[in-house]
Amino acid sequence: RITPVILSGGSGSRLWPLSSAARPKQFLALSGGMTMLQRTALRTGDGARFADPILVGGAAHAEAIISQLAAVGIATPRLILEPVARNTAPAIALAALAAGEDAVLLVMPSDHLIGDEAAFLKGVEAALPFTREGWIVTFGIVPSHGETGYGYVARGAEIGRGIFRADRFVEKPNGETAQRFYDEGGWLWNGGIFLFRASDLLAALATHAPAVLEAAAAAMAAARRDEDGPILPQAEAFQRSPSISIDHAVMEKADRVATVPVEMDWSDIGSWDALHNIGPRDEAGNVATGHVLAIDSRDCLLRSDGPRVVAVGVHDLIVIATKENILVLPRGEGQRVKDVVEMLRLRD
Ligand code: GDD
Ligand code: MG
Repeated sequence: RITPVILSGGSGSRLWPLSSAARPKQFLALSGGMTMLQRTALRTGDGARFADPILVGGAAHAEAIISQLAAVGIATPRLILEPVARNTAPAIALAALAAGEDAVLLVMPSDHLIGDEAAFLKGVEAALPFTREGWIVTFGIVPSHGETGYGYVARGAEIGRGIFRADRFVEKPNGETAQRFYDEGGWLWNGGIFLFRASDLLAALATHAPAVLEAAAAAMAAARRDEDGPILPQAEAFQRSPSISIDHAVMEKADRVATVPVEMDWSDIGSWDALHNIGPRDEAGNVATGHVLAIDSRDCLLRSDGPRVVAVGVHDLIVIATKENILVLPRGEGQRVKDVVEMLRLRD
């Protein structure tokens, strides 16, 4: 069985005012009734194919993780709480060490939407045999435009049906390069979802990012654990790890890296604009959630978790209201919300 590894980090700044450092987006129900975290965990809920998940997240979010998973009937015997955030490479290293060398791990961010789960699971099955030959597999998404918010994978030679050598990784290119990748074809978005044998990932870390592996191994060797409670890697050791993503630490450098392109209706919901794209939109192109009313308005994203919001005669607006804050911005400017959060932090 495959062991799902769910990453629950993230600072929660791009979907302000709904998300926050205390409540990053994986803990929110952004579309449909369940939270991103719950949907992620249920995606690999088939006990015949998947073992109980390993969760790696910040100590500050332990409560939310445990209660949200319990609410959908998922026991989490293996919750690893990072004493400090050091990005995805050390987080994944902790999971690989906890799982044991022979485990096959499916690493998934907790805050992505996958519309076509059957397609996703089919992709995982297609990739599985290749992990036994030492391949580290990433799932690629066929780009719909030149996006600067994602990493790109160059699709190389076909090594098996529907699986290709990953020739190059380019993390978050500028607009011009992203557009060129889109025009050229042969480039996929890196979905940030990975399948590999724990031993292969640990070996790749030993070669390409030894400081990460050393810190994670020392932190796990000195980890605390009460009864069936969370695993608490030792802070002093873990802090010594460089802060680096798995993409930079391993994917860009390792030899046997492959990619499986999957058409699965994927989005990492990196902004309010993305949420408008996902929909569902009404006939006027509005996406309306909560206590809102659109009159003679079109192509808006309106959401209120607090006061009633009425939009009259406007178009292409994003309006997000919570009890404390109201955000108004034109569609297309969603990436600026991150800067807003920084500005507010400095001001308060
Ligand atoms: N546990 C834990 N600890 N999780 C973390 C940490 C950490 O220190 N840092 C990040 N994560 C989790 C985030 O919560 C998110 O689910 C996932 O790992 C990816 O981190 P992001 O910070 O969201 O990365 P990104 O979106 O900038 O880029 C990555 O994902 C893109 C796809 O969404 C890269 O892999 C890109 O290449 C990729 O296109
Ligand atoms: Mg992300």
